[in-house]
Amino acid sequence: MSRDYYQVALDRLTALIDEARSRGSFEAEVAALATADVSARPSVRMISIQAVDAAGLLFFANVRSGKGLQILANPQASLCFYWPALQEQAIIEGSVEVQSLAVSDQYWNRRMRAFQIAAWASEQGTPAEETKTDGNLIDQQAGNFSSGKILRQENWLAFRIVPYRIEFWPSGWHRRRERIKYQRDKEGAWSKEMLNP
Ligand SMILES: Cc1cc2nc3c(=O)[nH]c(=O)nc-3n(C[C@H](O)[C@H](O)[C@H](O)COP(=O)(O)O)c2cc1C
Repeated sequence: MSRDYYQVALDRLTALIDEARSRGSFEAEVAALATADVSARPSVRMISIQAVDAAGLLFFANVRSGKGLQILANPQASLCFYWPALQEQAIIEGSVEVQSLAVSDQYWNRRMRAFQIAAWASEQGTPAEETKTDGNLIDQQAGNFSSGKILRQENWLAFRIVPYRIEFWPSGWHRRRERIKYQRDKEGAWSKEMLNP
């Protein structure tokens, strides 16, 4: 029964992403990802969620990036989606698991070729030479690849957020608001609670 609430929450999240996409949002799967270092200093940035399933929410990042290093040191994260077309927000909190090389390869192979080339074109987060724009680095790197398969750049790995809290907040103060929180307790049981907005 309690596990069902987790599935209900995931189903609603997936339905919102699909609905936003069907209404023309190009970045329906994009969310703000918050992480913190060991001193609890927070950082936030946008990421693209690659998959939502019973195991959690999967994204791709460079393990040596700010977020990658924070997650290695403090494997907790929060995500915030907002779909203006739907006037709805979803917040996820969970622990983060770095995925195996095999899983990372599997999701790497599904990513757009342009993303794969960009990942090879520069080491994310390291100081860039002012004379070289990203554009020409990517063009140079693209020339190094034939039309074949591009192997995963070794620092780019898949990360999975395993949620312990999922909350939906339909926005618009004029609407009847149903803020719903789904939460997992220490024993792994999920509960549902309505909150004042
Ligand atoms: C719409 C959008 C989607 C993005 N998707 C990703 C992503 O999936 N993974 C990623 O590492 N960075 C992504 N980025 C770039 C990050 O926001 C960020 O600038 C970069 O990863 C470096 O962040 P960090 O230094 O905090 O790790 C995206 C940016 C935007 C604007």
